[in-house]
Amino acid sequence: MLPLLLLLLPAAHGIAQLDYRPALTTEPVLEGVRTTSTFVVDQPRCVFQDYGNAVIWLVVALEQAASTFNNSQRPGTPETAFQGFPEPVRAYMTLNATLGSYPCPKPDGDIAVLRVGSETSCTGDVTRPTCNGPLPTPGPYRVKFLALEGSEPVAETRWSTPITLITAKPLSSISTAGRGHSADMIAITTILSILLAILLAGLVAMLFFWGSDSCGGSSTFSKPESVTVRRYNTHHVYDQPAARL
Ligand SMILES: *[C@@H]1O[C@H](CO)[C@@H](O)[C@H](O)[C@H]1NC(C)=O
Ligand SMILES: *[C@@H]1O[C@H](CO)[C@@H](O)[C@H](O)[C@H]1NC(C)=O
Repeated sequence: MLPLLLLLLPAAHGIAQLDYRPALTTEPVLEGVRTTSTFVVDQPRCVFQDYGNAVIWLVVALEQAASTFNNSQRPGTPETAFQGFPEPVRAYMTLNATLGSYPCPKPDGDIAVLRVGSETSCTGDVTRPTCNGPLPTPGPYRVKFLALEGSEPVAETRWSTPITLITAKPLSSISTAGRGHSADMIAITTILSILLAILLAGLVAMLFFWGSDSCGGSSTFSKPESVTVRRYNTHHVYDQPAARL
């Protein structure tokens, strides 16, 4: 079934099907080949040599959406915009490059890789639909390279095998680093609770004295004369013991 489809696709769309499958790189890269929001694939070196005038795009699809990706869709439109991914856009187009960016053969010492998801500055910017923004979920994803001449798709690679990102907290790191954090959190919470309790006690005490004071005095505080009356009472009470002596 699959070989049959692969034979039919180029015929149906007039696109050359190149025998190259993008893959996670085996080169040593900083930050890791997969992170929580990025992954690194090899550049397509010596793959599109027959399409010198083409612009080579990377299509990033949710695994289940790869087979239904429509090669006639244009990059830079809302249908393929990173900002719409993963809903409603199921596959976006990014990392466009001319063949000159992928010299063949690869010069010695070149680290010929592409980090998918490395561009954070354009994540929410709808004026930059071809943004190589951070991947929003762990996936799995499939990617392929698609060469366009003008707006005509002329050649494409196969889809990669499914690529799943690493998730934020592996179980092993929770048991060690996670416990240290929670101990700190408990200490801070306890201190804050005690401080809050002291504050509340002070507030209650203040209200109590304030309340008893106002009972002995006048009913309202808005009138300046009521303050005078209270002061007079207080003065009077204080004077009493002295008068008795
Ligand atoms: C593919 O996309 C083009 C342009 O958006 C559209 O005209 C065409 O009908 C689509 N084909 C399929 C099978 O959806
Ligand atoms: C990539 O595409 C964008 C938007 O279509 C364009 O502005 C930019 O010049 C292109 N870059 C390359 C290297 O083709």
